[in-house]
Amino acid sequence: HPSLAVSRAALLPPPGGPGEPAGQELPVESRPFASYGSALHIALPQPPRAGQLLTLLIDYEAGEGPGGSGGTPGTPGTGDSGRVCWLSPEQTAGKQKPYMYTQGQAVLNRSFFPCFDTPSVKFTYSATVKVPEGFTAVMSATSWEKQKDNTFVFKMSQPIPSYLIALVVGDIVSADVGPRSRVWAEPCLIEAAKKEYDGVIEEFLVVGEKLFGPYVWGRYDILFMPPSFPFGGMENPCLTFVTPCLLAGDRSLVDVIIHEISHSWFGNLVTNATWGEFWLNEGFTMYAQRRITTEVYGLPYTCLEAATGRALLRQHMDATGEDHPLNKLRVVIEPGLWGINPDDTYNETPYEKGYCFVSYLAHLVGNQSKFDAFLQAYVNRFKFQSITADDTLGFFLEYFPELKEKGVDSIPGFEFDRWLNTPGWPPYLPDLSPGQQLMRPADELAELWAADSLNMEAIEAVDITGWRTYQLVYFLDQVLQKSPLPEGNLKRLSKLYPKISKAQNAELRLRWCQIILKNNLEAEYSKVKDFLHSQGKQKYTLPLYRAMWGGSEATRALAMETFSATAPQLHVNVQNYVKKILGLAAAE
Ligand code: BES
Ligand code: ZN
Repeated sequence: HPSLAVSRAALLPPPGGPGEPAGQELPVESRPFASYGSALHIALPQPPRAGQLLTLLIDYEAGEGPGGSGGTPGTPGTGDSGRVCWLSPEQTAGKQKPYMYTQGQAVLNRSFFPCFDTPSVKFTYSATVKVPEGFTAVMSATSWEKQKDNTFVFKMSQPIPSYLIALVVGDIVSADVGPRSRVWAEPCLIEAAKKEYDGVIEEFLVVGEKLFGPYVWGRYDILFMPPSFPFGGMENPCLTFVTPCLLAGDRSLVDVIIHEISHSWFGNLVTNATWGEFWLNEGFTMYAQRRITTEVYGLPYTCLEAATGRALLRQHMDATGEDHPLNKLRVVIEPGLWGINPDDTYNETPYEKGYCFVSYLAHLVGNQSKFDAFLQAYVNRFKFQSITADDTLGFFLEYFPELKEKGVDSIPGFEFDRWLNTPGWPPYLPDLSPGQQLMRPADELAELWAADSLNMEAIEAVDITGWRTYQLVYFLDQVLQKSPLPEGNLKRLSKLYPKISKAQNAELRLRWCQIILKNNLEAEYSKVKDFLHSQGKQKYTLPLYRAMWGGSEATRALAMETFSATAPQLHVNVQNYVKKILGLAAAE
């Protein structure tokens, strides 16, 4: 990666054997590989024997890289700057001290350290990290220890793929929230972080273990990141990273935590061997997440949440076209300089279409506890390995020989091959009708608000004050679908429901902003701006810029103004995607 400078490589002598302790210096060369990194070639003195263990020492420096801007970390506009993210104090919640973090998934850790940066290779690691006075370092490791001189020593004793190595250095503190869990955050957020999840994490872990087998990672801690963190959550083992947007005050966004916990089995233990089969990580994790929420919160709530997921898949396929090559579960990622960047395959398809496929497999089995037992056997069979969809489906048919006999992999219209290789809407959708009791009132209310002349009596008869966040989210998705509403309706809706139009909850704010834009409600444009200033999550940022750019002169101006003010705070990947939307990116 351009931001990684390798200065020296050496072959170390075998442990205990003769030889120079500094090793024998080896020639190093960088060769073209892909647009997102090059190959590091190290010439060995002689060809190794099969099975021979070699120890290489590589000296390197990871910095801003040639594309970065030196003094002002994260400043946009100069191309391919480093993915190790260096934040200035203004870019943190506390605004006092700088902060650094890494985000490995999918192919970004090659800018952090030289590695086999593919999910098909697993290894253990250890790291010694020295930080300035007043800072704390944390990593995705099974054990850590603070030594003198602000030095932290970490060790991950289970084999993991490169993308799961993660480091944060900042002014962070921690608080216990369970027997094997604590939250980490900047001091100004720690109270809120503790309050959000105190006493609830353990139950999710216990249910996960009951369903999918032992939790092998020791601790499960949660780190609240600075507002520009581009994801809702990232399943770094032992230490999930999350957006501070989850601090809603009412645990309403806890499904993100349950999702990241589910990766402890699907993704972190059983890993997709290539990013072309990312759905193996995310589709199984969505299924596991919803199995846990079904056990903890019940089926109606889970179906409601799954319905909002299905709405996201619908929006995504409408926006990209069903036939888009990325709307397949198995994506072709050709190597070479012109191939797809695996990071660009991040969309709703692997999540929600993947969820549908796993649900379809469960439907074929026809019995929840039998399918749960299969999932547990699957994890046990492939734990600590990296596998392909063929391994998964082969094991499924082996585990259920009667289904194999019946030829369930080739039922016309539902062929496993079609699931994997045909773009478009899933051929099977799980039944979400148990969520109807929560969805119907929201559907009916949205219908009332879409009428040409408003029936205020009927509207006011519906009391939404007791509605859960996901019920409101579902309602807003319906309103968005029916937008633009007849003239004047949205203004009245905004006034009647301050719970929605003045919401602090990020999922509600996203939908409200989308509705504002689709209805050209100029009086509230400042809310879009404020929301984009407050956080930098990719799934919130991109849809809003797309909506602004696809709207009026005024919303386009709003987009430009907001981007020039917030770009320095955004993760470089998100910056680049926004630039593409706004036509600011150089053609690739
Ligand atoms: N592993 C992903 C985040 C990710 C995906 C990072 C691809 C980089 C590349 C994480 O587990 C995730 O899916 N997060 C979701 C949570 C949601 C589905 C509950 C997110 O961030 O929105
Ligand atoms: Zn995930």
